[in-house]
Amino acid sequence: MNYLRVGDLGQDGFLNALDLSIRAKRDPAHFGSALAGYEVGLFYMKPSTRTRVSTEVAVSQLGGRPMTLRNEEVGLGKREAPADVARTLDRYLDVLALRVFEHEHLDIIGAHAKAPVINLLSDLEHPCQALADVQTMSESRSLPGSVLTFIGDGNNVCHSLMMAAAMLGVEVRVAAPEGYEPLPEYVEAASQYSSVLVTADVNAAVEGSDFVYTDVWASMGQEDEAAERRRLFEAYRVDEKLFERANDGAIFLHCLPAHRGEEVTDGVADHPRSRIFDQAENRMHSFKGILLYLTQ
Ligand code: CP
Ligand code: NVA
Repeated sequence: MNYLRVGDLGQDGFLNALDLSIRAKRDPAHFGSALAGYEVGLFYMKPSTRTRVSTEVAVSQLGGRPMTLRNEEVGLGKREAPADVARTLDRYLDVLALRVFEHEHLDIIGAHAKAPVINLLSDLEHPCQALADVQTMSESRSLPGSVLTFIGDGNNVCHSLMMAAAMLGVEVRVAAPEGYEPLPEYVEAASQYSSVLVTADVNAAVEGSDFVYTDVWASMGQEDEAAERRRLFEAYRVDEKLFERANDGAIFLHCLPAHRGEEVTDGVADHPRSRIFDQAENRMHSFKGILLYLTQ
């Protein structure tokens, strides 16, 4: 089984992976040799801090061996076809995890490798982030019936988060400028599990929210659009005034890296109810959860 999209696991599988993530955090020693003998390939076509470090540490702490590869060496789709890269790496490695531009490359690799393939971020999803996000959310309150508002660009982080939160019974709202809404297929898929609202009205969306989440306005690879996006997303900055519209006790979330002063102010990122570094920590525990789920 692969974890390329949050929906790949189904609701039961996703709950199972979340449970393993929570147990791995609570009792890391219990899983200290769960991946003994496993070689885990971690491949990057884009920069990374959290994913790079949390995944390597997670594999090591499970008793496996991480091997990080950069695209400068592999040349995915240029030096070698993705299907051939997959069939080659599959002969050496027991798990493949990749950060790519085109999600289609992951689909091809997933189809040509027998080893489980994990998405470490693509243009379509960031499913490992979403597992850490719901783990973090579950640490603050019971999730069914709670309200999460994602503000900003409805792309990879938003897609995975919508699915993950909806599968846990969270009401999902997305406030995005026109033209930057999540793809209809994600709205439809998440709506099968919970109520989902997509709106351009950011103030109304935040009212009554228990969780307020944002991401950068220009993702990796979209640097050329940064100036235009700054103009279009200006009204979607999460500042203290907007955050105050959320419920008392509401939690602020961000996958990081943050562009402070753009999508979020320092006052919110460093707010006593910001959980952004818990999210970063949980990337490690939840990567263990997903590895345990896919290999045991
Ligand atoms: N949140 C996240 O994926 O961070 P990195 O890009 O630093 O890995
Ligand atoms: N949407 C961002 C997330 C970074 C973790 C990007 O794709 O760059």
